[in-house]
Amino acid sequence: MDLGAGRRGVDMGASALRNAQLARTLRELGHHVNDLGDVVVPLPETLDKHASGGLVFLEPILGTCRATAQRVAALPRNAFPLTLGGDHSVSMGTVVGNARRLDGQGARLGVIWVDAHTDYNTPDSSPSGNIHGMPVAHLTGLGDPRLAQLGDGWTLRPEDITMIGIRSVDLRERAAMREAGIRAYTMKDVDQLGITRIVAQTLEQLADVDGIHVSFDADALDPGVCPGVGTPVPGGLTYREGHLLMELLSESGRVTSMDIVEVNPTLDLRNQTAEVMVGMAASLLGQRIL
Ligand code: ARG
Ligand code: MN
Ligand code: MN
Repeated sequence: MDLGAGRRGVDMGASALRNAQLARTLRELGHHVNDLGDVVVPLPETLDKHASGGLVFLEPILGTCRATAQRVAALPRNAFPLTLGGDHSVSMGTVVGNARRLDGQGARLGVIWVDAHTDYNTPDSSPSGNIHGMPVAHLTGLGDPRLAQLGDGWTLRPEDITMIGIRSVDLRERAAMREAGIRAYTMKDVDQLGITRIVAQTLEQLADVDGIHVSFDADALDPGVCPGVGTPVPGGLTYREGHLLMELLSESGRVTSMDIVEVNPTLDLRNQTAEVMVGMAASLLGQRIL
């Protein structure tokens, strides 16, 4: 869906990723791939665009996230759900679904949020009203109660979140991040520490969780690498930093699910962004060559 984004087109992201040979690439790595098709989402053209309590398209987004959570939760514990966005609001559904998939009561899930943005706005702090800037806040129980209750009482613990690639945070969002104590590695940290140390520290931080979900927003990578995104920010992860991050997480053996979100084919160059993101999934789900 693209209802949570300020511009249209990320609803075509999943098609672009399929077109970039996602399934074939993963099969060549030895995986059994079962494409479960799309979650049906109403088209924005068929809805009237209104904001409910500072939230644009709240009701259809809620419905889509509920349906997504249900479908993910129904998958076996030993499956690896790879969910394709869509704008980043879909991750409210995928994270809740994966927590429930690992444990019916809601497992203690670690989340690695790879993104240029922290997506920690609430309806009050958001400058745009676009829900794709708000999923993390709602997963931790803040913001609008309807979205915050998607987990039926389960919430994501702030100390179980790590963000990597951050370089665009709204003013009031910043204050809320600090207050919650959410660990965020900005691009400055990536420059100074390097991906290797960041991954080591992250795995240590998440040592006690039951599973780890990687939510990968294509805009974490530099716009030169991934031009097909709606909210590009200069100075992002390089191609190799993205791959190294996925490769080290793969080696850890701790990641249990992944999202690829915010791929916008209408802004892309010959499907480059989708192809790069298929490569990221392949690195997370691949094995060492030697
Ligand atoms: N911080 C801005 C907002 O809240 C941009 C968020 C972009 N989020 C994303 N998932 N691309 O509107
Ligand atoms: Mn995002
Ligand atoms: Mn982003």
